[in-house]
Amino acid sequence: MSASPFSTSPADAVVARLRAAGCVFAEDEARMLRSAARTPAELDAMVDRRAGGLPLEHVVGWAEFCGLRVAVAPGVFVPRRRTEFLVRRAAALAPPRPVVLDLCCGSGALGAALVTGLDEYELHAADIEPESVRCARRNVEPLGGRVHEGDLFGAPPADLRGRVDVLLCNVPYVPSEEVALLPPEARDHEPRAALDGGADGLAVLRRVTAEASGWLAPGGRLLFETSERQVPDALDAVVRGGLTPEVARCEDLYATVVIGTKIF
Ligand SMILES: C[S@@+](CC[C@H](N)C(=O)[O-])C[C@H]1O[C@@H](n2cnc3c(N)ncnc32)[C@H](O)[C@@H]1O
Repeated sequence: MSASPFSTSPADAVVARLRAAGCVFAEDEARMLRSAARTPAELDAMVDRRAGGLPLEHVVGWAEFCGLRVAVAPGVFVPRRRTEFLVRRAAALAPPRPVVLDLCCGSGALGAALVTGLDEYELHAADIEPESVRCARRNVEPLGGRVHEGDLFGAPPADLRGRVDVLLCNVPYVPSEEVALLPPEARDHEPRAALDGGADGLAVLRRVTAEASGWLAPGGRLLFETSERQVPDALDAVVRGGLTPEVARCEDLYATVVIGTKIF
């Protein structure tokens, strides 16, 4: 058999190029690139882009999240594996036929994952970045959901006020001066607005908690991710917003999720 760019030999040229570029999981990445490329030339171009530092998910055009293939595109935040914990918590707490709002939705992965498998739901997603909104439409509209563009609660339709059962909100929460310390894939290829949470990382979150109660249905829940060190201030913001807070942690995924419930 002749050598092919789709060869699975661990010593093949694709693996070698990825490894030389510093990709730690070169074999896995090579497999993904091979499965995404339709021609040897396309594979070659993909390997070049990956070796140049573009996130793998941006190169292949999708990310795996909660068992789904979620479309992503350059300029759009790549959903992280640890955020699957937030979705699992939301799924455990959601009522039947939930009204779901995925605010700061990026690709729309969280809302899409939450409603996949449910028979009845109402799904809305929103983001301030036009590229994210475009991308989220590819993931959310096939599920019958709607995607809105704008600044936080300025984006969703007003008739959602008081009706949201699950408010997913994975806001940017990296303190401004720590953005420069992020891995280059995030720092150089994801929009600053997706990462930078202001001086202490909680600026966007505080705007959300200040308004969330007005959008939640009685018993509705706000869920967001945070860092362990931000937990006390995040809880304070939830309480100031009139919600009852709790914290959930997943050691395996290094994930910390804060939940704020609107008590009846
Ligand atoms: C950390 S990313 C999370 C994206 C997605 N929820 C996920 O977990 O994959 C934060 C997202 O918030 C959006 N964002 C930042 N500020 C916003 C604002 N004021 N209004 C709406 N969206 C905002 C960014 O564009 C970005 O898509």
